[in-house]
Order: sequence, then C-alpha cells, then structure tokens
Amino acid sequence: MISFLCNNSETTVDCAEGLPVLDWIRSQPHLPGTKEGCREGDCGACTVVVGRPGAHGVEYSAVCSCLLPMGEINGCHLVTIEGLTTGDELTPFQQSFYSEGASQCGFCTPGMIMSLTGNLLGTERPSSSTAMESLDGNICRCTGYVAVKRAVDNVMNRFSLKSGQRIESLIEDGHIPPYFSTVEERLKQLPSVTTPNTDSIAVAGGTDIYVRSSEKLSGKNPEFLTRRDDLKFIRKSNGTVEIGAAVTLKQLRESQMLAEILPGLKDFLLKVSSTQIRSRATVGGNIVNASPIADMAVILLALDAAVAVSERSIPLHRFYLGYKKLDMSSGEILTAVSFPVPDSGSVLSSLKVSKREFLDIASVNSSMLFTVEKGVLGSVRLSAGGVAPVPLLLEKTGAFLSGKTISEETINTACAIAVDEIAPISDIRGSSEYKTQLLKAQIRAHITRGPNR
Ligand SMILES: Cc1cc2nc3c(=O)[nH]c(=O)nc-3n(C[C@H](O)[C@H](O)[C@H](O)COP(=O)(O)OP(=O)(O)OC[C@H]3O[C@@H](n4cnc5c(N)ncnc54)[C@H](O)[C@@H]3O)c2cc1C
Ligand code: FES
Ligand code: FES
Repeated sequence: MISFLCNNSETTVDCAEGLPVLDWIRSQPHLPGTKEGCREGDCGACTVVVGRPGAHGVEYSAVCSCLLPMGEINGCHLVTIEGLTTGDELTPFQQSFYSEGASQCGFCTPGMIMSLTGNLLGTERPSSSTAMESLDGNICRCTGYVAVKRAVDNVMNRFSLKSGQRIESLIEDGHIPPYFSTVEERLKQLPSVTTPNTDSIAVAGGTDIYVRSSEKLSGKNPEFLTRRDDLKFIRKSNGTVEIGAAVTLKQLRESQMLAEILPGLKDFLLKVSSTQIRSRATVGGNIVNASPIADMAVILLALDAAVAVSERSIPLHRFYLGYKKLDMSSGEILTAVSFPVPDSGSVLSSLKVSKREFLDIASVNSSMLFTVEKGVLGSVRLSAGGVAPVPLLLEKTGAFLSGKTISEETINTACAIAVDEIAPISDIRGSSEYKTQLLKAQIRAHITRGPNR
C-alpha cells in the first residue's frame, strides 16, 4: 500500500513499490498531462514535482517519474501538471509559454512547466538563471529554446519571493493553487502504511537501475536506501570528510561545508546529469554502478577516498576489480565514502568532455588533486574515466608528476606515462585514439590552467 497526496487528493494505491510512478500516472484517466518519452531520464517529458516532509516543512523537487518508484512517494505530495491549477486558468509560466509561442507540439511543455515550478518551490533564491538551469533535463524537439528562454525571462524578470513565505507568495502570484497551503498538515494525516521489502534489490536514487531494469522492478518491493537516515549525512571530523551513501548529488551541491573544502565542486556538478536526476542520484549509487565514466567516482579517486562496506574500509582505487566488478558481495551495502580534507592550498581540478555540454555522460573525464608552488608541483593524484574498464587512478602518472617543475617536458612525459596506464576502447563516445588525445589534453589543462572546469 502506498499513501500519498496526489495533487489535491488523498490517495492510497495497492501496487508494488517498485512500479514507476509514470506508469501509475499514465493509468489514471484524469492525469493525461505527464508524458512518456524516453523512459531513461533523458528527455524530461515525464517530470513531476515531489514534496517530501523534511526538517524545514515540505521540501519540493522536480524529478523524472519514469525513474521514480511508487514506494518513494509514500507519505509525499505528488504534483503533476494537473495539480498546478484548480480551474481553467493558466499559471504565469503556462501563460508566458502561450504568449511567446514557446510550445508547438506541446509534448515537452508539461515537463518544462513542472521543472520551472519545481525551481520556484525548491531553490533557495529562484532567479532567471536558476530557472533556465532547472530546464537542463528537458529536451524540446520542435520549438527550440530561444522562445522558451523568452517565456521564462518574462516571468522571472518580474518575480520576487516574499522572504519566509514561499508557499503564500507563490499562491498569490498564481504559480501554485491555494490548496498548497494545506499540504504540510494533510501529509501528517495520511495513514501510515508500510510494505515490507520482499525482494533483495537495493534501490537508491534509481537513476541507474531503473534505466536498466524498470520492467523487472515494476512488480517488486525493493529495499529503498533513501529511507535509511543512517546513510544521509555529510560531516567533517579529524581532518576527514565523510559522506553517507544515500546523499544525493543535489545535496552535495547544496553543502556549504563541501563548497568551502572543494570550491569548484558545485559548478562541476552542473555538468553531471540534470536537475531532475541530481535530485535523486546518490553518491553511493554513482560508486556502486561502477560505470567507467562515473563522475563522482573519478573525483573521489583523486581525493584518495575510501568506501565503507559492512565493517570494511576499502580504498576506492582497490574497490574496482574489473568492468562492473567490485570488492563487495551481492547483498552488501556501501554505507559511506570518506576522504582526507585536502591540504590548504591544494587544488582539485575536474574536467569532463562529452558530446553535449549538459545532460550527457563523459567521453573522458578526469580529476587532479595537487599543490603547486613557484612552478613546482607538490604531491599529485590523478584519476580518469572512460579510459579503462573502471574509473582509474593513474598512480604512475601521479607519482611521476609529484615534485616536478612544470615544463613542456614534464607534461609530455606525464602524458606518455598516462598512455601506458590506460586501455581505452572505441565506442559510441569516441575512438580509443580520440579518448587518448582527450586525456592528454586534460592532463595538460589540469597542470597549466588550474581549478575546476
Ligand atoms: C539521464 C541520465 C544522465 C546521467 N548522467 C550522469 C552523469 O553525467 N555522470 C554520472 O556519473 N552519472 C550519470 N548518470 C548515472 C546515474 O545517475 C548516477 O550514476 C547516479 O549517481 C546513480 O545513483 P543512484 O542512487 O540513482 O543509483 P541506483 O540506480 O539507485 O543504483 C545503482 C546500482 O547501485 C546499487 N546501489 C546503489 N546504492 C548502493 C549502496 N549504497 N550500496 C550497495 N549498492 C547500491 C543498486 O542496487 C544498483 O545496482 C546519469 C543517469 C541518467 C538517467
Ligand atoms: S520519459 Fe524521458 S525522462 Fe522520463
Ligand atoms: S514543443 Fe514539441 S517537443 Fe517541445
């Protein structure tokens, strides 16, 4: 049983917790607005907004309903496009899309409106720029984005939020209907229902496993790691940063402590998937899915991270045993990842080259943690993705670079050593030769151009 508020209605559904929310929505005749496109988190047509009771009231974010299991909306407010108005009126974004001709076939439009509304509900200081950022997971195939940007700017240029009264302010401006002011109390009144997890499948954010196994999971009751509070923390003590496995990439971006320790991380994470995916994707899932181009895994390798699995602490570079093979038994849970706070003065430089700048996985990504003083490198740790069956620590290249004076010769020798350490394959993201060139260019850029891009 799953009990939630669907728009303005208390709703209880008897279904497997693993059923994608999109499939439930599409089976409801009165909810035709949410569209099914790719079913892979790539197009944003299925975007809904989910409000979850949190420490500061109901916390809303836009997510892809195709990758969202029903079990994850238990006790929550599910908002579809139909829930943004109660009559025939249009919200300011809908009106502006209409006036600016920002919608032609209209297939992408509900998803865009939901992303934009999610930004108003869930971003600390919504602005034109955060509004456009919030559309990084929404693809339009016929209108083009110039009209969309015009429509968004029209609304956001006039937008202001009364401090401390977000919901009231958004209701007053017509972005959400009045029933939103009752949601917090109504969520508390929902019947408390639980479904025991009967299937030994771990689902964290679901943004990887639902792309691979949506049909298989539809009838299952998996173990939801996001329900485990013991996996949700970001803390620093005794010179070590520790991050719980169920922390999302969105929460990493929002962490003030991480922003101080790793100043470029927040911006770099904008290049990792999309707003909808980052709201759900976890650090643990990024490590365990063991993609050779997993962005967080590559960053964490450079940071000399270790993972906690059961009672063991395993250096991350020893955790990857081969393509999708981990030093972890089936059924074990990765609980946290930790890394030493980098010395003051050290730089974490992270680079990613992909076919598209946003919402794309890397052809090659790399990170380098280093210090440099008067043209001489201190200790260097270099990692790369897309150049081996696993996210790779380039131990020999890092060791060579440590203590070297920066020069053409140093860079060329480092590149030659790196080429010996890697084994890229040719695939849809580029030939092995191209990937080799990308890594060489990235090593040069890390050394000569400094921090995170
Ligand atoms: C559209 C799209 C774009 C993407 N772009 C990027 C990108 O730019 N960069 C990138 O790196 N990735 C990207 N991804 C991949 C994915 O979003 C990330 O790897 C994400 O961090 C996976 O985390 P999750 O919590 O969603 O994992 P899930 O899908 O929940 O889990 C992945 C696997 O790990 C297991 N698992 C998860 N957590 C644990 C744990 N704590 N212990 C044991 N097992 C666990 C699950 O059983 C499952 O097998 C993208 C995905 C999509 C759909
Ligand atoms: S259907 Fe394309 S992102 Fe969900
Ligand atoms: S309006 Fe047709 S896909 Fe965007």
